[in-house]
Amino acid sequence: MKKTFPKLFEPTRIGGLQLRNRLTMSLYPTKYTTDSQANDRLIEFFRARAKGGAAMIVLDGACLDYPAAYKGAVELRMDTEDHAASLKRLISAVKSEGALAFMHLNYPAGPIVSEGTSGAIEKKGRWMLPLISAGDEDRVKGLSKIFGTGAARAREIGYDGVEVQASWGDIVAQFLSPLSNKRTDSYGGSLENRSRLLLEIVSEIRKDTGDNFPVQIKLVVDELIPGGFGLEEAKTVAGSLERVGADSILVTVGNKKTKKHSIPSHSLPAGVSVPHAKAIKSVVNIPVIAMGKISTPDLAERILEEGDADLVAMTRALITDPELPNKAQAGQVEDIRGCIYCLEDCADKGVKGLGRACVNNPLAGLEDEIRITGAVDSDQVWVIGGGPAGMQAALIAAERGHVVSLFEKCGHLGGQFRLAALAPYKGEVSEVLRWLEVQLDKSQVKVSLNHPVSAAEIIDAQPDSVILATGSESRIPVMPGFDQEHVFQAHEYLEKRVKPGANVVGSGGGEVGCEVAETAVDSGSRVVVVEMLSELLPRMKSLPRTELLGRLSAKGVVLLTDHGASAITTNTVKATGQDGQEKTIDADTVICAIGMNSRRELYHDLQGVVKNVYLIGDAEEPGSVGHALRAALRVAATI
Ligand SMILES: Cc1cc2nc3c(=O)[nH]c(=O)nc-3n(C[C@H](O)[C@H](O)[C@H](O)COP(=O)(O)OP(=O)(O)OC[C@H]3O[C@@H](n4cnc5c(N)ncnc54)[C@H](O)[C@@H]3O)c2cc1C
Ligand SMILES: Cc1cc2nc3c(=O)[nH]c(=O)nc-3n(C[C@H](O)[C@H](O)[C@H](O)COP(=O)(O)O)c2cc1C
Ligand code: SF4
Repeated sequence: MKKTFPKLFEPTRIGGLQLRNRLTMSLYPTKYTTDSQANDRLIEFFRARAKGGAAMIVLDGACLDYPAAYKGAVELRMDTEDHAASLKRLISAVKSEGALAFMHLNYPAGPIVSEGTSGAIEKKGRWMLPLISAGDEDRVKGLSKIFGTGAARAREIGYDGVEVQASWGDIVAQFLSPLSNKRTDSYGGSLENRSRLLLEIVSEIRKDTGDNFPVQIKLVVDELIPGGFGLEEAKTVAGSLERVGADSILVTVGNKKTKKHSIPSHSLPAGVSVPHAKAIKSVVNIPVIAMGKISTPDLAERILEEGDADLVAMTRALITDPELPNKAQAGQVEDIRGCIYCLEDCADKGVKGLGRACVNNPLAGLEDEIRITGAVDSDQVWVIGGGPAGMQAALIAAERGHVVSLFEKCGHLGGQFRLAALAPYKGEVSEVLRWLEVQLDKSQVKVSLNHPVSAAEIIDAQPDSVILATGSESRIPVMPGFDQEHVFQAHEYLEKRVKPGANVVGSGGGEVGCEVAETAVDSGSRVVVVEMLSELLPRMKSLPRTELLGRLSAKGVVLLTDHGASAITTNTVKATGQDGQEKTIDADTVICAIGMNSRRELYHDLQGVVKNVYLIGDAEEPGSVGHALRAALRVAATI
């Protein structure tokens, strides 16, 4: 029997506006604009999420105070008619797909001032007057007027409503927090004073936009730091917000220092902030929206059913699968491609040369550029290698009408990514392969396991196109002693579930090396990670990197950078430093993770013999699963 989600798909209201269901998309700053205009990339990204069924989307904010608070060409503007025209295209794309468009309103920590202004500090080469400490009362009051004017402008342009940023350690949250707000005037000290700015902002917006323009507050309800703004104070503020005319409260937690709770990662459970939403809901009558790793429609339904919140918001789940709402409504839950909460390609600056994207959705951020359409001819396509790249390529080629055969030399699909889920806190990454396998089962792709393909077989069969997704294999260290029984490659160590000895040395401090080190320390070993470079995890994004390094340090793993393993004996590893000094480390188990080499033999053998040969994924360049899936998309969408 198909699952249904009656509560989730019940229409509801925020202020005077009707929403088609109770699932909204919270802010995701795409950073796609390059000239402060909403471009096609930004528009198509959000059109896809609206088309996928979200009821309301909080869209990237625009500069509220040009030029004083302008962050540059990467920030949207709305002050000129030209800029407004591009926003109108964005709003129209979202609305034409049946979703409501809200604008996120925020202000930087302070306006830009000239060098040397009293109280100003330098930030990224510009001088800024921090409002939280240096702004006088008039300046702070002026800020609420800026929000009011900004909201009125958003309404004029065509937004359905606005969201005031009162979280994330941004300026309004700084005023709320006793940790950052040390003012002695009417905006500091008591809760009444600390919340004055937020309440004035809502009043100004109400005054400038009238009664029929919803104002949502993204409210931090617990900074999760001792002495910070906490739940009891937040309940009082929520009540005041309702009284001054706020229409809904989106509940979030954390500040800049506790961001891992604001964007909960692998290490936190799904729905981690729902109890906070429930607490706020107990004190107000306006809609309360729960958020924070609400990963599935089942969880969303349960939250609503149990009355913990009136609506839910998702960000990453909708980056990964914009069609999540539609699929849930149609009962196609197993077809939902789940976020793996890795915070890699969607975070920080995203992917080199591409910007913000998604590890488990190769189309994210490319909606304007790539469309999967039927192929002109139905060709014979051979895909060699059943890792993530090969699986994804086979699916897309088949979806387009090609006759696709997928060959894998092992007895199972998934390639090396099957091992990724074995590291601590990484169980969620198995979702990548689950989705690919379910879709392959439903597809017309002919899958052959235990079938290593040779160049001769391909030359003999002469398929119209050959996609080589043969992956990569561990780089073998060349040093005295590397071929002993207690020396393992990382994949071998994980695959064979080796029980490490008392003293483990991990050679290589990249992602795989550090994750393997954590598995070893968790099984009771003393662990030293030896890394040639001066920093570990150079390619990992800031939040997961901070978490993993923090855990390794807390668990006592010794991180020895600027050193390369140079020799292995039966019970030691010699590590040589950049300065030539040698260290001898006890080691009864050695695990090597010094990188990967592409498997390209077939590619070389087929050059000039078979036409239309494509190399994708790790076989092209060892990288990540996000890179592998995008390479598959780019090739399979065009052949
Ligand atoms: C322990 C570990 C953890 C990882 N964690 C992450 C992570 O958290 N995030 C991330 O983004 N990446 C991670 N990676 C990297 C990621 O797994 C790879 O980038 C990704 O699997 C590459 O996919 P692929 O399909 O190109 O190659 P592979 O996964 O290597 O698959 C290639 C497949 O081709 C098959 N094959 C090869 N030759 C032939 C042939 N001649 N005929 C038939 N079949 C053949 C192989 O058997 C294999 O199954 C991790 C890797 C490891 C080892
Ligand atoms: C990469 C990334 C950047 C974000 N940046 C902001 C931001 O600048 N301001 C903000 O209020 N929220 C930001 N968010 C938070 C989201 O709006 C949302 O609150 C958070 O991701 C939790 O929802 P989720 O678990 O469904 O992803 C960001 C989220 C992500 C994934
Ligand atoms: S990159 Fe990772 S965390 Fe971000 S949306 Fe995609 S799967 Fe989720």
